[in-house]
Amino acid sequence: MKWLYSLTMAVGLACHPALAQSVAPLAAPTATTPQQQRDAYVSDLLKKMTLEEKIGQLRLISVGPDNPKEAIREMIRHGQVGAIFNTVTRQNIRAMQDQVMQLSRLKIPLFFAYDVVHGQRTIFPISLGVASSWDRDAIALSGRIAALEASEDGLNMTWAPMVDITRDPRWGRVSEGFGEDTWLTSEIARILVKAYQGDDPQARHALMTSVKHYALYGAVEGGRDYNTVDMSPQRMFQDYMPPYKAAIDAGSSGVMVSLNSVNGVPATANRWLLQDVLHQQWKFSGITISDHGAIKELIKHGVASDPREASRLALQAGINMSMSDEYFIRYLPELVKSGAVSEQEIELACRKVLNVKYDMGLFQDPYRHLGPAESDPQDTNAESRLHRPEAREVARKSLVLLKNRLQTLPLKRQGTIAVIGPLADSKLDMMGSWSAAGVAAQSVTVYQGMKNVAGPRARILYAKGANVTDHQGIIDFLNQYEAAVAIEKRSPQALLDEALVAARQADVVVAVVGEARGMAHEASSQAKLTLPDSQRKLIAALKATGKPLVLVLMNGRPLSLVSEDQQADALLETWFSGTEGGNAIADVLFGDYNPAGKLPMSFPRSVGQIPIYYNHLPTGRPYSPENPGKYTSHYYDEANGPLYPFGYGLSYTTFSLSDMHLSAPRLKRDGTLTASVRVKNTGQRTGETVVQLYLHDVVASLSRPVKELRGFHKVMLQPGQEKTLTFTISPEDLMFYNAQMQRVAEPGDVDVMIGLDSQRLTTQRFTLL
Ligand code: BGC
Repeated sequence: MKWLYSLTMAVGLACHPALAQSVAPLAAPTATTPQQQRDAYVSDLLKKMTLEEKIGQLRLISVGPDNPKEAIREMIRHGQVGAIFNTVTRQNIRAMQDQVMQLSRLKIPLFFAYDVVHGQRTIFPISLGVASSWDRDAIALSGRIAALEASEDGLNMTWAPMVDITRDPRWGRVSEGFGEDTWLTSEIARILVKAYQGDDPQARHALMTSVKHYALYGAVEGGRDYNTVDMSPQRMFQDYMPPYKAAIDAGSSGVMVSLNSVNGVPATANRWLLQDVLHQQWKFSGITISDHGAIKELIKHGVASDPREASRLALQAGINMSMSDEYFIRYLPELVKSGAVSEQEIELACRKVLNVKYDMGLFQDPYRHLGPAESDPQDTNAESRLHRPEAREVARKSLVLLKNRLQTLPLKRQGTIAVIGPLADSKLDMMGSWSAAGVAAQSVTVYQGMKNVAGPRARILYAKGANVTDHQGIIDFLNQYEAAVAIEKRSPQALLDEALVAARQADVVVAVVGEARGMAHEASSQAKLTLPDSQRKLIAALKATGKPLVLVLMNGRPLSLVSEDQQADALLETWFSGTEGGNAIADVLFGDYNPAGKLPMSFPRSVGQIPIYYNHLPTGRPYSPENPGKYTSHYYDEANGPLYPFGYGLSYTTFSLSDMHLSAPRLKRDGTLTASVRVKNTGQRTGETVVQLYLHDVVASLSRPVKELRGFHKVMLQPGQEKTLTFTISPEDLMFYNAQMQRVAEPGDVDVMIGLDSQRLTTQRFTLL
């Protein structure tokens, strides 16, 4: 990854002629620390600004039909806009920054943001896939490349990482997050914030982050998007809040505020969330940004009677910038006039925005991420701008092998392979949702990837086999804003017949099934988690041919796959794996890469089990499969537990764990203890696995989860090779919020569990003194 840093250094700072006209000399002479210098600079600037100009800085708008370029030009001229999102080329960004420099009174630079969630031009696997890698270097690499490409496009900020913990796969946005586990998501949040922002926010390729969606958006009731969240403070601070805090502690400059309410108060109007927790407790000093149209929505939430009240509530709660919401610009001036809002309150929010611009280095060089105009790429989508090898590498690491009966995989590079399914040759779906400036035409499908990787001795046949769904209502929903799913003119039966002809000629069938990308997106909540009927029919018919059946799953959420698990000889979860997805998947299917991904979310057997998550609390009547009693906590019509547990994933080789050892029977308050284990590759191939450590506080003043992830090591072993892995445990790992909301680690016994997934674990015990 060294090259990335050296590239950053080499590009250096561009000096633009407009700098000469910039607002003020950078540092007030008396200021000493960088922060004092910034404060002095911003205070000086604020003194020169009119109320309208201050309010203008609080406005963030999207370029699009609602805001055509001419309208934006006028806003810029009058100092009525602070930042822009949804524009992604240097030429466009430069044109707007030029307008600021040429037309506006104070020449306060705009900043430019975008949803760079899993890549900018090169698309990496969706976040849930990146999380499945359990690979810190791969995660960081995906973030660095995204930052590099986004800043090369002139962007200053991303609306990422999205770290909403979710235990409900009905919610379409699970695809954007890192799964159900607080510890893993916090770890990824830290890695990504550092990867995007780098050490120096003013560096040419630093991209500021805006962690989202604060707070608890992943816990919307029933998995229905935008719905209510109601939660105990213990669960909130123990399970849902830490990833946001981790991102902030790692230096995230922005926080995007969620659309949901929290215990009755919409986050956008929630003083407690935005001031008490975020600013006072967590010492966050960056900017808060309301989500799209959220200020207006305060009226529909039923906490504001009119636009004026909505604007006042949001500002006074602690929203600094409004996204795609005209209320601030329209109503704040009169609210100040009437005395309902003070100019100091406006100034405070404005100061935050200016601080961020200062930190970005924009006052020094408004063109910081643009470079000289002559360096603008002629073709923004040029192949040379992509980072394909890195994308392939990360995508391979994100794949999770769920089943491999009789070593169906890897495939032999000979004979006939039938590649079938509505997703087998779909470039658009491969990109997943929120694919930024990625171009679907540049993505590699599974069918293409298999042809690339198979070699000359294998014959590859292809048939679509089925539409992704035949349900007209769902097709209409998916095609509402773009031509997202193409429905074949041929009848479903004709598609199926063609697929069966291919399957019958083949030695093995690879069926690529799952979801269209729009099914796992914002506003794509689902009440059912099985595959669409069209695809279930296809799978059943393929199974009936008697050919070995490999199911390659493309989807953005855990699905319930009980019958697919029974039907398939091998199952590979590939999420939506991005620009190089097809090649990466083919690498795994043909054994050029040995899969090592592990699930970051439990896969339910049926939708009725939701919420289902591994780190649940014990009950007074736990169910045990060995001794199932009637009056125990279970469903009588469904097996207990997930189909595939959190942390689960197979390899083409096998691993064993042995000799688990704790360094001491007791852990002192100021001490640490180590847990070690020997891991051995007991199979025939080189491979990697993820060894996971879980803790359980056996008796505490509150019931504590049956297990909680507190560490992992990803380790590569040759056949027969063994390694001893060591985990360090400290009292910090056992901290929790007690009934009085004090964060404590209580004395007593602690179970330490080590395993290759969250279910098959070896346990030992120590005592926390
Ligand atoms: C989403 C955010 C996103 C924003 C800007 C909203 O609808 O909830 O996650 O960052 O749009 O695109």
